[in-house]
Amino acid sequence: MEMYTPEALITEEEISLRIEALGKAITKDFENEDLIVICVLKGAFIFCSDLIKKINRPVSLEFISLSSYGDSTNSSGNVRLEMDITANIEGKNVLIVEDIVDTGLTIKTLMDMMHVRKPKTVKLASLLFKPVKLKHKVNIDYLGFEIEDKFVIGYGLDYAGRYRELPYIGMLNAGN
Ligand code: PRP
Repeated sequence: MEMYTPEALITEEEISLRIEALGKAITKDFENEDLIVICVLKGAFIFCSDLIKKINRPVSLEFISLSSYGDSTNSSGNVRLEMDITANIEGKNVLIVEDIVDTGLTIKTLMDMMHVRKPKTVKLASLLFKPVKLKHKVNIDYLGFEIEDKFVIGYGLDYAGRYRELPYIGMLNAGN
């Protein structure tokens, strides 16, 4: 069996503590309000499932899938909707849940898409933010961790479809 242990950048415990704090902040901000949570597939699926357990408000859960095209390292600046949510968000509070904001293109495109549907509010929770790559103005309302320009995997994030199942955020080094 192949063995691999990518180096940890953010541990399971650190993630858990941060998510608890984010959940508390979201619960406070949405006092007496319902919330539609939109999980951006695939990367956000673990963060989203842990986060909603810490939000003490009525939540309905939606999934959306977007993909950007380009070469392997650079976005083409073109994001396509692969799978849409099923709920009508007009007049509703929406919380978009992302795993990482990198160039900001995906979330900018998604925010623009959602605003056209006239929700009452739209907020963003992102586990990670890599400011060095940012090309589009993005406001992250609930941020887990700001990170340096490293290729991160685990806790939902992949490299070529692998490592999503790691319980922590790791870094890939040569040899992994
Ligand atoms: C990743 C991540 C974000 C996006 C961030 O998705 O989940 O959605 O990239 O990058 P950006 O800020 O430069 O747009 P990816 O396309 O890797 O798909 P996945 O979540 O299915 O792995």
